[in-house]
Amino acid sequence: MSTSAATGPSPEGMARAAEAAVARVTSGMALGLGTGRSAEAFIRALGARVADGLEVSSVATSVRSEKLARELNIPLRPLEEMVARGLDLAVDGADEVTDDLALTKGLGGALLRERVVASLAERFIILVTPNKRVTRLGSRAPIPIEIVAFAEPVVSKGLIALGAKPELRRTDDGEIYRTDNGNPILDAAVSPLEDPRGFDAAVRGIPGVVDTGLFLDMAAEAYVGLDDGTAEHLSR
Ligand code: A5P
Repeated sequence: MSTSAATGPSPEGMARAAEAAVARVTSGMALGLGTGRSAEAFIRALGARVADGLEVSSVATSVRSEKLARELNIPLRPLEEMVARGLDLAVDGADEVTDDLALTKGLGGALLRERVVASLAERFIILVTPNKRVTRLGSRAPIPIEIVAFAEPVVSKGLIALGAKPELRRTDDGEIYRTDNGNPILDAAVSPLEDPRGFDAAVRGIPGVVDTGLFLDMAAEAYVGLDDGTAEHLSR
């Protein structure tokens, strides 16, 4: 996948954040499993605890995370069951996080399912490394926007009118990238957003937009994994 993603997170930091989050899990919990490197670190840490006898149920935000959970014998349940029961925690990564826990997500392509699963959770916990922390969203990553394929020229024109520079995401082979829902993504480079809420509303007003990577007022907590073996805890 080619995006203008900035420096990746350090494996040590991701492992610390994942360990901090997995320590929050107790037997009987229902969990949302995110997508991406940090979320996969969490799924692996969770798998180790399941192997030791922890009993949980889960729903995944992508085909990739579901496959990993299955390999690790983490019990997976259908989404409709989780709608009835609710999730105790959803744990996921992010591409950007502000001090008040506004997020950019979706460089891994799973933004829509991530939002759907997080909406069921009592607590949405984010795992990041310090390189993801920003003052304004749009500073280090473009804003991923999942769209209906037919509408691509309309959405691109609308984004340009909003001052963004959209780029149709492609795979490393040059094919148009498709999410697990079969939709393309436009990665919209922006000047750091002074009004993310207004930008999000304007983007959602363009016909053909399915979802945006702006996750505002959703995360309750974040663990910032540090290379010194600790994790900083943020909450709001
Ligand atoms: C997946 O669609 C994304 O929202 C990821 O959560 C985000 O890109 C963070 O991924 P990493 O942990 O791999 O940086």
